[in-house]
Amino acid sequence: MTFESISLFPLPTPLHRLERLDSGSNCELWVKRDDLTGFAMGGNKGRKLQYLAHEIKASSCDVVVSCGQVQSNFLRQLGATCAVLGVECVAVCMERPYQDLDRKPNEVIGLQGGNLALDEWTGLQRKLIPDGTWDAMDEAIELEASRLRDQGKKVKVIPLGGSSPQGVHAFYEAGKEISQQVDFEFDFIVAASSSGSTQVGLTHYFRGSKTKVIGIAVDPEPEVLDDMVLLSESYVQAGGVGPALTHEDLDFRLDWVGPGYGSPSEAGNLAIELLAKKEGILLDPVYTGKAFAALLDLAHSGEISGRILFWHTGGNPALFAY
Ligand SMILES: Cc1ncc(COP(=O)(O)O)c(C=O)c1O
Repeated sequence: MTFESISLFPLPTPLHRLERLDSGSNCELWVKRDDLTGFAMGGNKGRKLQYLAHEIKASSCDVVVSCGQVQSNFLRQLGATCAVLGVECVAVCMERPYQDLDRKPNEVIGLQGGNLALDEWTGLQRKLIPDGTWDAMDEAIELEASRLRDQGKKVKVIPLGGSSPQGVHAFYEAGKEISQQVDFEFDFIVAASSSGSTQVGLTHYFRGSKTKVIGIAVDPEPEVLDDMVLLSESYVQAGGVGPALTHEDLDFRLDWVGPGYGSPSEAGNLAIELLAKKEGILLDPVYTGKAFAALLDLAHSGEISGRILFWHTGGNPALFAY
């Protein structure tokens, strides 16, 4: 398979130093501004959607079906992509999805406003279903897809967070974009990691180089790492640059999840405030605040040093829900 895309916004996104933030003597901090992709209010999902848009168009479908937690940034941008392509978009949503009954989330806030407030402008149709496991969400997508097929519609299913081989490839290309913006190699790249294609794509690109990619978990489930290995295998099978990644190739840290997915952490909130006050850059409480808190801790402890790049993956609309 070759990976083809449809342009939805201009690239590259800006890459610049964080001049005012003191991160420790042996560090130089940089930021990759994927919050400024600009498409439907920006964020890392836009990159994946350029490739998924091609796949959606090539499928000649009438309707796209996907899923996510209600505040999903991916669904906001998927809704806009489908609107641009002139196809319907239906999203199966849960307020509090979880891995299994023993690990139900304690508290999830931010269930109103934010990304939800934008659906009516793009026409995204949400189907709120009772909370359940991620597997139950997958089953619900299939049910919704067959209901629409029974109505005679041609359906295209897009996986959670756009984490398909196309999503991985988008971030393989994003790694290449960095290499064209600076004439040195970063020592570390730190990014929030959830459905996995951001981390998997960047790790594929930087494998074997000086640059180490660190993914910061925002979900409490360690199984996300197994899913990333499977995602990498599917990328290589689809024609991506192999070999597939193993567990050891992926540096995935679970220490900054805080109270759970969608529940802000104290460290994350402090990181949001710090970056807003020092640099005028806004993060979000679900993904980037926690990832930036991790970067600061890792830099202050000396575990990471040198040129460190924070990949700002967006998510700002959620600020208005918290
Ligand atoms: C703002 C933001 N950052 C990071 C991520 C994680 O990206 P990925 O799903 O590719 O792991 C997401 C995904 O939901 C996101 O919305």
